[in-house]
Amino acid sequence: MKHTNNRLLSLLLVIVCLCSFLTACTEKPQETPGEEAKYDYLVLVNKQNKLPDDWESVVVLEDAQNTLPEGIELNENNDYLATDVFKVETKTLEAFRALQEDCANDGITILLDSTYRSVARQEELWAEFAEKYGEDYCKQYVAVPGYSEHHTGLVIDICVIKDGKIINDNDEMIAERDLFAKIHEKLADHGFILRYLEGKDDSTGYAYEPWHFRFVGSPEIAKEIMDKGLTLEEYLTLSTQAQNPNK
Ligand code: DAL
Ligand code: ZN
Repeated sequence: MKHTNNRLLSLLLVIVCLCSFLTACTEKPQETPGEEAKYDYLVLVNKQNKLPDDWESVVVLEDAQNTLPEGIELNENNDYLATDVFKVETKTLEAFRALQEDCANDGITILLDSTYRSVARQEELWAEFAEKYGEDYCKQYVAVPGYSEHHTGLVIDICVIKDGKIINDNDEMIAERDLFAKIHEKLADHGFILRYLEGKDDSTGYAYEPWHFRFVGSPEIAKEIMDKGLTLEEYLTLSTQAQNPNK
């Protein structure tokens, strides 16, 4: 009888160990306070570089919602701003909230408009835009699914409220040059860069997008990129050259 109990105990022990091992293998790594994230805030995702395969299993995303000022009238083209739950990488969201407050202190209201997108969502978006504006427009403004920086969680597209009205249409936002210039001045202080600069389509692969902000991990790096008027592609090329001057 004692012999049987021992064998049962050993069997139980093996099962417990096996379960712990399997849980450890399948669990998403959790960041503990103070621990650095396990991903590269300078990751390059563009027309030539797809999202790294392991990215989505590692990145930590938070839920976020907009709080709209009172009295804003919504319609079918913008009511998602009040109802959608947006997903954003932890440090990126924290930086965005600081940028938003910075803008609010200057009387500018910015809202989350589009943040993390799954590949499936990007497919829907491409189809919507292709139907509405055609393929040529898509090539300038919408990434092929799998190649969108939005998959990283490090990107925030904003929209703005001006004179009590929501402006979330691309052409209308491009026309708001002065307003967006004031917002762009604040980006680097919070670790963001303007990702798709005007006149740099050859470098980025996309047309000017005054609303698309990319978190690069720190104000120091963001300032270096923004002060020199660089694209992320140009900055990364220069950094590589500086590290390997003989190549
Ligand atoms: N608008 C950018 C290029 C994207 O779709 O990722
Ligand atoms: Zn965007």
